[in-house]
Amino acid sequence: MSQLTARQLGFALGAEVTGIDLSKPLNDLKRREILDAWHKHLVLVFPGQDLSAEEQIAFSRNFGALEDNESLPYYRDPAHKEILLVTNKQIGGKPSETRNTGRNWHADLTYTTRPAKGSLLLCKEKPAVGGDTMWANLYLAYETLSAPLRDFLDRLEAIHDFSLVKGVEQRDPEKVAELKRRNPPVAHAVVKAHPETGRKSLFLGQRIRGFVGMTEEESAPILAFLNQHATSPEFVYRHRWSVKDLVMWDNRCTLHVALPDFDQTKTRHMTRTSLLGEVTGRVLEEGAAPQKEALLQTIASVS
Ligand code: SIN
Repeated sequence: MSQLTARQLGFALGAEVTGIDLSKPLNDLKRREILDAWHKHLVLVFPGQDLSAEEQIAFSRNFGALEDNESLPYYRDPAHKEILLVTNKQIGGKPSETRNTGRNWHADLTYTTRPAKGSLLLCKEKPAVGGDTMWANLYLAYETLSAPLRDFLDRLEAIHDFSLVKGVEQRDPEKVAELKRRNPPVAHAVVKAHPETGRKSLFLGQRIRGFVGMTEEESAPILAFLNQHATSPEFVYRHRWSVKDLVMWDNRCTLHVALPDFDQTKTRHMTRTSLLGEVTGRVLEEGAAPQKEALLQTIASVS
């Protein structure tokens, strides 16, 4: 039997895993080895995996129940609700609505109360050059902040908002209105302890409106600093895809971004499964965010 090998790809995260055929059932030992490598490297690249939709689903299920993509129903593979099509291939004679998926730093489905635990993305077709994806290590982002800032962030929640998905305004307005209705803004803790490793990480990204209880003016510079810090080059791995790469990432301690660094007339076709996460967020009441004007009014009324 071949030996599973994990070769580190990046300083901060990422490893290439070889010696395994993902179309075959996994035994407990191999599953454990993959999980250990996943917890250590956060992003695993399995090259040369020529998987059907059913095989991708079956492999993904080794690591938990799968998302049925109910928050994004229009972009599913019609034959497999567990598969989200991230593609610029035409669908029904129209440009695909997922052709610009993931163009800002994010973790998957954080605009729901149940962000994905992880995702598995299989490259089916790609342009000769580019179409890369980058991931950032959010453990390191947290651990390299000063103690007073970590203390402050430990008590904070952020407002994750579907309408901040980059490029959403270029999609069908009716579908987008329905997606916003299905996905109202939700609050998540800014710092989370990983349920399996126990290690704390930031939980941020560029789909955040601000922090709960703070005005947008207060939130914006802190958020900008934290996102810039979290995605600085020393925390990032950039993957240059090959067809048949399957990449499996931990969504609880990483961010990722899909780069538009390719000729958009060339096909980039990927299939994604996501592992159902824990419920960690709560839907926010409308108008919950304080406004600077209202706070000024409070001062005026007491002075
Ligand atoms: C995603 O954001 O999940 C898709 C990433 C990619 O297409 O590279």
